[in-house]
Amino acid sequence: MNSLYKRNCLRLLDFQTYEVKHIINVARILKSAKKNKREIKYLKNKKIVLIFEKESTRTRCAFEVAAFDQGANVTYLGPGSTHLGYKESIRDTARVLSRMYNGIQYRGHSHHAIETLAQYSEVPVWNGLTERFHPTQILADLLTIQETLPLRKCLSDIKFAYVGDVRNNIGYTLLEAAALFGFDLRLVSPSQFWPKLTFFLKCREQAQKNNGNIICTENIEDGVKNVDFIYSDVWISMGEPETKWKTHINLLKKYQVNSKMLNLTKNSNTKVLHCLPAFHDKDTIMGKKIIKNNNLKFGIEITNQVFESNSKIIFEQSENRLHTIKALMITSLTQNFFL
Ligand code: CP
Ligand code: NVA
Repeated sequence: MNSLYKRNCLRLLDFQTYEVKHIINVARILKSAKKNKREIKYLKNKKIVLIFEKESTRTRCAFEVAAFDQGANVTYLGPGSTHLGYKESIRDTARVLSRMYNGIQYRGHSHHAIETLAQYSEVPVWNGLTERFHPTQILADLLTIQETLPLRKCLSDIKFAYVGDVRNNIGYTLLEAAALFGFDLRLVSPSQFWPKLTFFLKCREQAQKNNGNIICTENIEDGVKNVDFIYSDVWISMGEPETKWKTHINLLKKYQVNSKMLNLTKNSNTKVLHCLPAFHDKDTIMGKKIIKNNNLKFGIEITNQVFESNSKIIFEQSENRLHTIKALMITSLTQNFFL
């Protein structure tokens, strides 16, 4: 039997390395089948519920389009549209929804909430982002990276810098990815943003067993030297108070991904990744306000010039949300799914 059948995906360390590799391989095959108009529908008549307690563009659309492509139906429950957490407990909501649906996607605040949902659900629960982890994003990123690698190279061979707010869901999920695949991960930020020590040590130990390493450094030059990829994310995540912007910008402005940082890599092939949404210009109401209030010139966590010169891979990352989420749903909902 497919070992991923009926499994939750709350964080990457829910899986063994070979299982994540399998999801990525299935995603590759599904992507090519869709492009060649040869997609087989494995999820006919399945019903999926999408609970969003925070806003979303990519995650919601990826789950919905993946379901449509596969013949499944979805119900979208947006922020404030259910009794969840206010009049009804997560435990009861889980027991209701798992009598009606085959799978539950949850995007919310605390990671504890999704753990409770999964504990009381009888159907697979997929994490569409909590304040601690964002596994469906990193699955897409791993596929994107793999697509750029020459034939003889694999994920464990890469050198990778994550720059900025390391304590957020992207930073923590990248730590788990490095633990599973044993790549060289450098977390580059002021020490206030470094991960909790116990979590860092646990991930580093597993990464080292897999012949990789994880370091934290405040030194940009050491952190980005020779890396294949630099990854950036917003400096204030959804759900954090906007009052934190000033402090975060003051602490992190040296760590903006810009052409100076790319020169420090000493590697003309370094690619820049971003999970999006990104503050790289003044084209959004929020971006404009923050850029103006903080006397910034060229974007916040990344400059427009660096963003646009890496836009091909960045938008590939967002397309790959669709293929990897589809692979995740198929492998957890289909008992006899084999490649
Ligand atoms: N990257 C990501 O999760 O995007 P959304 O917030 O738009 O879903
Ligand atoms: N760290 C970001 C990721 C957005 C996809 C947030 O939680 O807002």
